[in-house]
Amino acid sequence: MSELTREQVLEYDKKYNQHPWLKGNANAIPVEKADGIYFWDYNGKKYFDMSSQLANVNLGYGNKAIIDAIKKQADILPYIAPAYASGPRSELAKLLIDLAPDNMSKVFFSCGGSDANEAAIYAARTYTGKSKVLSRYRSYHGSTLGSGNLSGDPRRFALERPAANGYLKFYDPYVYRSNQNFKDDAEASKFYLDMLEQQIQYEGADQIAAIVVESITGANGVIIPPDGYLQGLRALCDKYGILLVCDEVMAGFGRTGKMFAFEHWGIKPDIISFAKGVTCGYVQLGGVILSREISDHFEDNTFLYGLTYSGHSLACAAGLACVNYYLENHILDHVNKVGKVFGELLEEIKANHKCVGDVRYIGLFGAVELMKDREKKIPLVPYGYDEQAIMAQIHGLLKERGFAAFGRENNINITPPLIITEDELKEAFKILDEVLTIVDDRFI
Ligand SMILES: Cc1ncc(COP(=O)(O)O)c(C=O)c1O
Repeated sequence: MSELTREQVLEYDKKYNQHPWLKGNANAIPVEKADGIYFWDYNGKKYFDMSSQLANVNLGYGNKAIIDAIKKQADILPYIAPAYASGPRSELAKLLIDLAPDNMSKVFFSCGGSDANEAAIYAARTYTGKSKVLSRYRSYHGSTLGSGNLSGDPRRFALERPAANGYLKFYDPYVYRSNQNFKDDAEASKFYLDMLEQQIQYEGADQIAAIVVESITGANGVIIPPDGYLQGLRALCDKYGILLVCDEVMAGFGRTGKMFAFEHWGIKPDIISFAKGVTCGYVQLGGVILSREISDHFEDNTFLYGLTYSGHSLACAAGLACVNYYLENHILDHVNKVGKVFGELLEEIKANHKCVGDVRYIGLFGAVELMKDREKKIPLVPYGYDEQAIMAQIHGLLKERGFAAFGRENNINITPPLIITEDELKEAFKILDEVLTIVDDRFI
């Protein structure tokens, strides 16, 4: 445990830590402790963790079942190399296969989401013998070389110099900003899928190993696909012999009210990547779940991909405790119940603030999209990475009042811990309401 004072934490942080995604010295809030849905800084100020940190601390802090499982495992066997079999790794893999669709057969564990998606790309390319991978512009799949190139948002630009080969992008079904007047979800889905089908033909179906999508786009604004889109995507993949990879890193493990978000549309992917909510940040873990066909391929062909910490014992023990906690404590039922109130609160926010163009939500996965002019749909900040100053100010105003969230472009993403109560949600939304009143007056 660190014995540094608040001042030392800040001084050393500025001097010695390179924070991700920031230039220069970070002005990070020094956080001392956390419990449930709250964390506290060194001055004793309390924050609602309205993003579950990076949408990963789904079960909040201080969960005894998870902490005890980690402590026990640390005493017995904290780590064993991936070549050995271990209790936590075997049991968690079986549990995940039991929860996944019935076409799934094996799990490869990684340390987080980026390397889970690297494994997905590796498995898809090796299994199909094809190399191109299609993903969407408004997506985030990680920041390592492969997963960073898979990501569509501007964070990929640094990794594209020089570009890795075979990573191609297509348009998201981002209906709110489409400038189209679709009469219903079916028409919207058809519009985007028709464009994608043309792109598949232009790129050559026999060149494309996989299409990778976040089942519901997370970091880039909680974009929920129109009904029929994912089913249509599955059909396109089947028609052209392309694998469908669903990235469930953020949307999985109850965030949307289902264990996996694609379940809302009844589809079965070929590969599922996961991380975040599987261990809720208590220890880092990720992985890919592979279909029977793909797993069978690796019965006869070497799986030429590995990590020292694949299936780390502490991480798998935490994962087992987390997933069992979701199941035994009916967390999905709670998300669906509280999610209704969450939706109502978001709709109220939209009705009361002219800066709010759109609110999107499913389960406890929500975003507030801010507009300079909502009639003309002119966003508060233009697309890009460097033009975030206004949003940083808005997030600053929220944090000052104890509402910690994150978001990209002109979105405030709201992804509270799945254990939040209706009363806590209502209390936190008072802060959001207050800050959006300032935005209405000052920023638009
Ligand atoms: C959908 C999605 N995929 C992958 C990742 C990358 O995961 P990690 O940061 O654990 O490498 C993230 C992280 O936010 C994500 O949201």
